[in-house]
Amino acid sequence: MHKIAIISGSVRTGRQSHYVAEYFNNYIKENKLADSEILDLMEYNFPIFDERLSKMPSPPEQLLSFSKKIQDANIVIIVYPEYNGGYSASIKNAIDLLYNEWHHKPIGLVSVSSGNFGGVNATSLLQTVLVKIKALPVATFPVPNVQDNFGENGKAMNKEASDKRASSFMKELLWFADSVNKMK
Ligand SMILES: Cc1cc2nc3c(=O)[nH]c(=O)nc-3n(C[C@H](O)[C@H](O)[C@H](O)COP(=O)(O)O)c2cc1C
Repeated sequence: MHKIAIISGSVRTGRQSHYVAEYFNNYIKENKLADSEILDLMEYNFPIFDERLSKMPSPPEQLLSFSKKIQDANIVIIVYPEYNGGYSASIKNAIDLLYNEWHHKPIGLVSVSSGNFGGVNATSLLQTVLVKIKALPVATFPVPNVQDNFGENGKAMNKEASDKRASSFMKELLWFADSVNKMK
């Protein structure tokens, strides 16, 4: 069984991206695709980066736990809002804290925006960062007009349409995860 970590990357009061993270967690469970879990950056509440985990003399417990969950996952889905044409600072903060954990990890990119373009600018910036740390950003799922499409507890307003898109996104991620496993 694959293990999927879903990083919920908006820590804003009143955030809507979190609904999309919940939608994916529900979708994966409903369809028995993998073991999945949301890693909520609002709960982790990491301080602004001042050093990598590997260089910290006594890293905090919650950071060690985050590192282990990313290490153990064979797919990571990152859900992030588009802010001013980029992705949220909390996502960059979390990426920079770790290093080896990201290597050869298939990553699904779920960008969330209240506008019409679904956060495509944020995605291209994040892809560049992930490739630099040897992760594999292999599938994208842009969410435009999130306020019209997802609500509390991950409820999709048009479940059939969202599930159809989620199905091809997940198929791609699972294919890469299987391929990476075979190479090990
Ligand atoms: C500081 C800030 C900047 C934003 N910039 C953009 C943007 O460049 N493009 C866009 O489509 N939406 C933008 N939005 C709207 C967010 O995409 C929207 O709030 C969406 O719900 C995802 O963010 P959330 O998880 O914080 O709710 C911005 C929102 C904030 C708070």
